[in-house]
Amino acid sequence: MKRVFNFSAGPATLPLSVLEEARAELLDYQGTGRSIMEMSHRSPEYTAIDAEAKERLHSLMGLDDRFHIMFLQGGASAQFMQIPFNLLREDQAADYIDTGRWSAKAIKEAKRFGKVNVAYSSANANYDHVPTDDQLSLSENAAYVHYTSNNTVCGTQFPKEPETKGIPLVCDASSDILSRPIDVDRYGLIYAGAQKNIGPAGVTVVIIRDDLLQASKTEDVPTILRYQTHAEKIFNTPPVFAVYMVNKVLKWAQDQGGVDYFETFNRKKADLLYQIIDEDDFYQGTTQKDSRSLMNVTFRLPNEELESRFLEEAKTHDLYALKGHRSVGGIRTSIYNAMPMEGVQTLGNFMKEFRNQNG
Ligand SMILES: Cc1ncc(COP(=O)(O)O)c(C=O)c1O
Repeated sequence: MKRVFNFSAGPATLPLSVLEEARAELLDYQGTGRSIMEMSHRSPEYTAIDAEAKERLHSLMGLDDRFHIMFLQGGASAQFMQIPFNLLREDQAADYIDTGRWSAKAIKEAKRFGKVNVAYSSANANYDHVPTDDQLSLSENAAYVHYTSNNTVCGTQFPKEPETKGIPLVCDASSDILSRPIDVDRYGLIYAGAQKNIGPAGVTVVIIRDDLLQASKTEDVPTILRYQTHAEKIFNTPPVFAVYMVNKVLKWAQDQGGVDYFETFNRKKADLLYQIIDEDDFYQGTTQKDSRSLMNVTFRLPNEELESRFLEEAKTHDLYALKGHRSVGGIRTSIYNAMPMEGVQTLGNFMKEFRNQNG
């Protein structure tokens, strides 16, 4: 068996031990003679997995009983619609911070449901930074403030939660959930497609605080799209295999030491790459330094020909999926929780060697 270092932005690399466990259980889950994929979502086996995954997530993120966890489908993209559909009434406004491709899409969808105030946009600067608190133009009585904590495409990340003067934060945490501790009291809703930091594609984690849930709309919202439909029970068939995998990744995350561990670990990995980028002008970081992401490190080489060669030669060192997003080009290395230090060290050594030969 050959495993490469996979820097894909998503679906992203998973912990090897998790994949091995899943392989061992694939045909016969815990002596049942069936795969977890072949069992009712009402079976005791599956409902135990659902409960355990939610418990682990509560514990890892430091969430108290105010927070409900839902395993939904439709990707993070469905939340761009489902959030305003449930939380934004026609006579209300919501504030959105536009820091990248995904927040722009969230804004576009929200506008279908109510008034949207764009509290800040870095679009004119190629999304190369996130705003500081004093740059935000928040409205007086917004229903919520939406932001994207890590911008996967351009490689920026909020260093901490934006200050919103008591208005609940709604956060697209798709690409940095569980990568560091968060101040849970600030959040009304957190959502994340699982496929970057917590599992395979197919399930979206949505965490909602009870007061927002209770106030959420039911009238005019189709049953399947209401948060109230999903918060208390498993309403319809969930993506059982994806949730099963998420539960294993969460256990793995607990065993590693949880979010405090990952914060230090992720910073170490990112620092190693940024240090090489900053050594001279061969590699050029594409984002402002104080907005740099610890999850997606983006940079350019002196020209596109060198970038193509870099990507090709990287493969000979087992370094894969380093191509930047098609909308920005260049190189993007996604180094989520499951990327081992060894992968980043191998990449760092390759970057130095490539610079020596081509710089
Ligand atoms: C920050 C962020 N939000 C949303 C999405 C869209 O997620 P999905 O493909 O699950 O709809 C992505 C996907 O890369 C993302 O990185």
